[in-house]
Amino acid sequence: LQRSLGLIVLLLLGLVLAAEPGQAGGHTLNILDRDASAFNREVRGLLVWVMGFAALVFVVVTGALVYVTVKFRRTGKETGEPEQLHGNDRLEVAWTVIPTVIVLIIFGLTAQSMFKLDRPTPGAMVVEVRGWQFWWDFHYKDYGVRNSNELILPVGKPVRFEITGGDGTNYDVIHSFRIASMVGARDAIPGVVTHIEVTPEKIGTYYGQCVELCGASHANMRFRVKVVPQEEFDRWIEGARAFQAAQPTDPTLVRGQELYKQQCAGCHALKGVSQGAPSNPDLTFFGNRTTVGAGMWPNVPEYLEPWIKNSPGMKPGVKMPAFPNLSDEDVKAIAAYLMSHKVEGLDFSKLEKF
Ligand code: CUA
Repeated sequence: LQRSLGLIVLLLLGLVLAAEPGQAGGHTLNILDRDASAFNREVRGLLVWVMGFAALVFVVVTGALVYVTVKFRRTGKETGEPEQLHGNDRLEVAWTVIPTVIVLIIFGLTAQSMFKLDRPTPGAMVVEVRGWQFWWDFHYKDYGVRNSNELILPVGKPVRFEITGGDGTNYDVIHSFRIASMVGARDAIPGVVTHIEVTPEKIGTYYGQCVELCGASHANMRFRVKVVPQEEFDRWIEGARAFQAAQPTDPTLVRGQELYKQQCAGCHALKGVSQGAPSNPDLTFFGNRTTVGAGMWPNVPEYLEPWIKNSPGMKPGVKMPAFPNLSDEDVKAIAAYLMSHKVEGLDFSKLEKF
């Protein structure tokens, strides 16, 4: 009894936590947030039906069990075997037909929702999503803009995610893309493109997470979604398209650039400075990022600097090597150089609360 009570308490606690009002932007982890998107409202509607039937079945079955237990209990007067019953056609038909009808209703409602949510919206903005161990690459196909681990989306505009894993030449494992309180999950499978579509309806920060066990840092394969007003999105896209890394004059940044070219440029892309490889995060607008390590820490020097020096020590399984050869000054210079690259006039951190 104690064990089942413990289990019930744990379950209730899980439910409370799942529904806990989030930080910036409302209920950031609440999958039932009806203001976030039509997708959520649809899923919420289905859940009500499923839970309703589940409650009905629970009440009927438990009620019947309690009834027969009490009614046919041994009272002490009986002797020998009780009267034996063999089948009841009416009852058997009833408990076959009723569950079948319930399952058919749930099936019909689910199929209806699936078709509805799967219908592509003409003119939706396309974002190509690639899952890599253990980070996310976002490519705004229509604009030729790439960003890592942070999705900037305009409020009220349909967006179609084209989701895959790796890039066809570089091997990677299966991941799964999910924005917890906005849209359901889709697997990111190497060699296959899956789709999911959503129209964000509420400005704020949303939490994204890989939801397919993919290795040592599966739990650390996160991302942030910033839903911003259309004008702000347009400014960001315009700034991103026109972006050119300036030649620094500040001595720290000059040193940072020199070190970046020696240590980082071979792997990472930074528009106008290095080509990098698609299998590594793009660092072009690093100054606009609000997180480090794919959503693990806030993007501030106290996390960014140790990350540059020894990321495998901060995140298990990360593919970037440690750089024990870099001095503290070197690391500070690289961090400052990276932070100097940003689309000016935009501060997504004001949406954020860790
Ligand atoms: Cu990627 Cu789990």
